[in-house]
Amino acid sequence: MAHDHMIEMLDLDAEVLQDYHRDLVAWVAREAPAHPRVVDLGAGSGTGALALARELPDATVTAVDVDPDMLAHVGAKASAAGLGDRIRTLVADLDQPWPDLGPTDVIWAASSMHHMADPAGALRSAFNALAVGGLLVIAELDSFPHFLTGTPDEAVEKRAHAEVARLREEAGMHMHENWKDRISAAGFPSVTEQRFDIDLRAPLPASAARYAEVTLGRMHDRLSDRLPASDLAALEKATATLADRDDLSVRTTRTVWLARR
Ligand SMILES: C[S@@+](CC[C@H](N)C(=O)[O-])C[C@H]1O[C@@H](n2cnc3c(N)ncnc32)[C@H](O)[C@@H]1O
Repeated sequence: MAHDHMIEMLDLDAEVLQDYHRDLVAWVAREAPAHPRVVDLGAGSGTGALALARELPDATVTAVDVDPDMLAHVGAKASAAGLGDRIRTLVADLDQPWPDLGPTDVIWAASSMHHMADPAGALRSAFNALAVGGLLVIAELDSFPHFLTGTPDEAVEKRAHAEVARLREEAGMHMHENWKDRISAAGFPSVTEQRFDIDLRAPLPASAARYAEVTLGRMHDRLSDRLPASDLAALEKATATLADRDDLSVRTTRTVWLARR
């Protein structure tokens, strides 16, 4: 069930933040070489792999993830979308020596680099895997989106975010790295950075309330032994009423680095 929620959350992220995703994929498409062989690192539910295959009709895409269930979902979605012949899946733990990815022109890693135990090593492997002139795209997030800013529940949502941030730090996740410096250190001669400040207000699509529900529900579950009971109850109450509220917003920051080998 937790797994299904993760897949749903990733799919909802792409749906609700569709303008950001569209702008990002269009940017990559402008920069990518012709007939690119794309690798999606930590592909998750496949939103990046599918969007890239759609935007780049000459591309082939390899979706890599450590989680075979995620890749089964990617495979099913690719077939249903008629993209099964251009998207292949590859189970691999990118914290281990990388499998041979074959000739690679674009490496895309969205919200996955912070999961790597050794991001510097992963970036060096990405550099080595790319053809000369190939493109590296790293997209990272500051935090999960905030949905309750400006509402009576803003403070409890903020406390939950602060606790999730501590949890991630304790788990050794690399959330707020200087990715520009890290990418340069891996050998890429130039790196372009673009920040996307996302602030969606009412009227929001119905999927936004569901995105908030899944995200806040996951945060609640992860923090069940870390937040005071009063905060957990307040989060639960806020989550239960999301579909009926008209004061939701979706605020988040994504930063993207583009580098060419
Ligand atoms: C937050 S999700 C992002 C998914 C997708 N890129 C997106 O933007 O929606 C991170 C993904 O990285 C994968 N991942 C984490 N550590 C990994 C590793 N060591 N090797 C391969 N994949 C990994 C997870 O299984 C998960 O699917």
